[in-house]
Amino acid sequence: MEKENKRNTFTGSIGFVLAAAGSAVGLGNIWRFPYLAAKDGGGLFLLVYLILALTFGFTLLTTEIAIGRKTRQSPLTAYGKLKKGWGFLGVLSCLVPFLIMPYYCVIGGWVLKYLCTYLSGFGSQAAQDGYFEAFITGDKEPIFMMVLFLAFVVFVVVWEVNKGIETTSKIIMPMLLLLVVAIAIFSLTLKHTDGEGIMRTGMEGLKIYLIPDISNLTVSHFFTVLMDAMGQLFYSLSVAMGIMGAYGSYVKEDANLAVSINQIEIFDTAVAFLAGVMILPAVYSFMGQEGMQASGPGLMFRSLPKVFSEMGKIGNIVGILFFALILFAALTSAVSIMEAVVSSLMDQFHISRLRAVVMEGAIALIIGILVCLGYNKLYFELLLPNGVTAQLLDLMDYISNNILMPIVAIATCILVGWILKPKFVMDEVEKGGRKMGRKGLYQVMIKIVAPLLLLVLFLKSLGILTFI
Ligand code: PHE
Repeated sequence: MEKENKRNTFTGSIGFVLAAAGSAVGLGNIWRFPYLAAKDGGGLFLLVYLILALTFGFTLLTTEIAIGRKTRQSPLTAYGKLKKGWGFLGVLSCLVPFLIMPYYCVIGGWVLKYLCTYLSGFGSQAAQDGYFEAFITGDKEPIFMMVLFLAFVVFVVVWEVNKGIETTSKIIMPMLLLLVVAIAIFSLTLKHTDGEGIMRTGMEGLKIYLIPDISNLTVSHFFTVLMDAMGQLFYSLSVAMGIMGAYGSYVKEDANLAVSINQIEIFDTAVAFLAGVMILPAVYSFMGQEGMQASGPGLMFRSLPKVFSEMGKIGNIVGILFFALILFAALTSAVSIMEAVVSSLMDQFHISRLRAVVMEGAIALIIGILVCLGYNKLYFELLLPNGVTAQLLDLMDYISNNILMPIVAIATCILVGWILKPKFVMDEVEKGGRKMGRKGLYQVMIKIVAPLLLLVLFLKSLGILTFI
């Protein structure tokens, strides 16, 4: 009881929406979404993603936030409290941010590196082929940048300056959105003639991004797209990893959950969509369709500097602004990831905040170094079931997004759909006479569609269902 009283609450719905959006909008939207869209051929991925966001995304986000508010506990203990024997679900969902944290910091470090490059006026070098590869295969610099990024995150979490972040988000997030729109418009005007004399335009790239091409579609490719889009959805919305539940536990009783959830979803999806408009036409113009498919996690870092350099003099300033804003968005997300792990460690082992941060910081540091070396001394190539040739970073990303998150999501669907019953969540959302929309959809999704489809995708992710 005493603990409950001590729980901070957000100042209002807007505070909650901003904090949740701060966690949701990050590298997932701007770095991860475009490279998956490019890999999976553009339009089809986008369409599948949007459908999943409106159905799965809505269902899972609603469930997690409602459970959080109902139990007023962090996810580690919330599930066990809801139903005896389900505590394992809390543990599993805390494992996800634990896995994500190290490689998130590695990419945060990449962003930092590019920010430094632009700040020192060397943007044109970043636009050259091979710049990105030379950087990530280095043995010191990527580690140094990762450590710097991690140090920022630790600083924020230790001093609990989250409140400050909440207010800063109000300014930074809309700025980021505006800049992404502006760069996206510029990307559409691109025209590039390659060495063989073939001219490609940004508008042609936009078509590939928007219009699904199903002419050569195979069942197997369709499932790969579905699997990638689903993993991306979890990652992007920060669901199935105990983070949204924790935010839900801070929301006031009289807040309108349904409206807030819609706002979070719309904002997150809009940023991802626009990031695609910003990056895909550029990749297509400069690298063609093969380039789109082959790019992988480096896509944003290879393509955007080329866009900025096309802008002429102003490009360097746009580059500084862009990487600074992304750095902020990445930081707010990373803080939420670390916060999830730290609060779980504190609850579980009854240790102080500082201790928990030191423990998690040390683990993230060690694994982060290994991930950096994954492009250097520890380089390997592993073919994953979704067709990606993975290094350590891709492998960790795959395990967390395509394996662990579906397990958490399936278990949550069974718990809420069949044991507690959907009414449990719906009542929480409708508390105080509020209205919840899409109720019919919610029930069908949580009981039947979501767990079944997730199961199929999970088996496919493990490489078990090879015939589809
Ligand atoms: N959703 C965040 C993003 O899009 C990443 C994230 C993953 C945040 C896991 C919290 C937990 O970048």
